[in-house]
Amino acid sequence: MNNAELYQGNNSLQKRDAIECLEEFADKIKWKKIGDRIIDVGCGDGSVTVNLLREYVPENFEKLLGCDVSEKMVAFANRHHRDERTDFSILDIERKLPKDMRNAFDHVFSFYTLHWIKDQELAFENIFDLLTLGGECLLTFLGHNPVFDVYRILARSNKWSSWLRGVDRFISPYHDSQEPEKEIRKIMNKIGFRDITVKCQEKIFVYDSPEAVKKAVQAVNPFPMPKNVFDEFMMDYVEVLRDMKLIDEENNNKPACVRTNYKLIVVYGSK
Ligand SMILES: C[S@@+](CC[C@H](N)C(=O)[O-])C[C@H]1O[C@@H](n2cnc3c(N)ncnc32)[C@H](O)[C@@H]1O
Repeated sequence: MNNAELYQGNNSLQKRDAIECLEEFADKIKWKKIGDRIIDVGCGDGSVTVNLLREYVPENFEKLLGCDVSEKMVAFANRHHRDERTDFSILDIERKLPKDMRNAFDHVFSFYTLHWIKDQELAFENIFDLLTLGGECLLTFLGHNPVFDVYRILARSNKWSSWLRGVDRFISPYHDSQEPEKEIRKIMNKIGFRDITVKCQEKIFVYDSPEAVKKAVQAVNPFPMPKNVFDEFMMDYVEVLRDMKLIDEENNNKPACVRTNYKLIVVYGSK
């Protein structure tokens, strides 16, 4: 996914969940009041970083850095949201950290990104290493989500198997977990995080039409496809949703809507 324009118009679910998480943890976050250095890992188009997260940051912060593995996302974020104290740069949270980023941030935030990471332990180690002593992180990422089942079902079909090659790479490591909280807490304890909170929250989001789902899926689609192939893919995708009984069909002038029941993992920890 690296189409920032498409993402910024079709990320209502991600924005809603970022706000709910920030509201829930607002009293827990220990701001320094002056000179906070903040990083947002997996910032995407930068709109959550600047329009939502920044609302919670004290006025006298020193630096707000958004990072993403996608060059296109970072370029878009810099074009639209950069200012004297807010900047965006490339960082792969699943690789070795650059030296100057170690112990450099009082707060690490990350919204809707860590479910893309296979090596969870390395990502959590990197988050720990980004933090100064006493610093803290607040993270959200997907656990179980029916979207991943749809990908798996389609990847097993002859028609879509080659387009969805390597599908497991894009399924949350916690999609099949019975107790994701325990697994994450274990990783964080081993690394040395303190004051750990891990919650697996049951969420519902209703898309007001199959067309809205199509745009939301397109905005985060990790499988490169030409437009005509994607249109056909989405027709089959919606059929699978229908088989899974996730579509409330049109009735008495009420348009069809699509329900998604999913699990969002919310993590807080300090160093
Ligand atoms: C769904 S977007 C979330 C964007 C934003 N945080 C939000 O809540 O709207 C996920 C972002 O994670 C980025 N990402 C994926 N793997 C990453 C990695 N290994 N390191 C850093 N960013 C990564 C993607 O490029 C994408 O922009």
